[in-house]
Amino acid sequence: MIKIAVLVSGGGTNLQALIDAENPYGRIVLVIGSRGRIYALDRAREAKIPTRIVSHKKWGDAFAGKMLETLGEFNVGLIVLAGYLTILPPEIISAYEGRIVNIHPALLPAFGGMGFYGLKVHEAALARGVKITGATVHLVNDIPDGGPILAQKAVGVLAGDTPETLQRRVMEQAEWELLPHEVRKLCRNLEWSKWRV
Ligand code: GRF
Repeated sequence: MIKIAVLVSGGGTNLQALIDAENPYGRIVLVIGSRGRIYALDRAREAKIPTRIVSHKKWGDAFAGKMLETLGEFNVGLIVLAGYLTILPPEIISAYEGRIVNIHPALLPAFGGMGFYGLKVHEAALARGVKITGATVHLVNDIPDGGPILAQKAVGVLAGDTPETLQRRVMEQAEWELLPHEVRKLCRNLEWSKWRV
């Protein structure tokens, strides 16, 4: 059973989708907030999942060490970034090579990279006038939103869409389906690779 840590910074709707999904290969053992007082942590408490807050602002240069210590305390095997806004330092990425996954609310490489997060992604898509957008699940490397793409799902842009209506539809029709599905597949593959000689 792969132990999963979900890292959050906001409302936690992707965390909720993971909590509600069936996953015979993995279990969420920890939710880490980038700061306190975010609704995602309330969702974790509601689901009786242990929570921690590891704030980059508070820990500064010691952030990577504190994060690795916290992940180690729970024997975490897979990290899921779900609406998480802190850029992970290289020490964490190398310690969990191939075992950190992120959900991005656009069809990468479009509208990805530094500065593209949350509503800003949808504002940029509407400003560009794209007719199709969507969500991407990808492995995390040291390039923001630059890791290998695992899955994507397209969502149509409708006339009259605002960033808010578009964000909601991308969440409902793409993010909340893709992330649990790809996390389950990753857990299965990690589980099987443990037994491969
Ligand atoms: C949303 O913009 C979502 O598209 C992106 O992060 C933001 C917050 O998501 N992945 P969540 O509700 O906190 O999961």
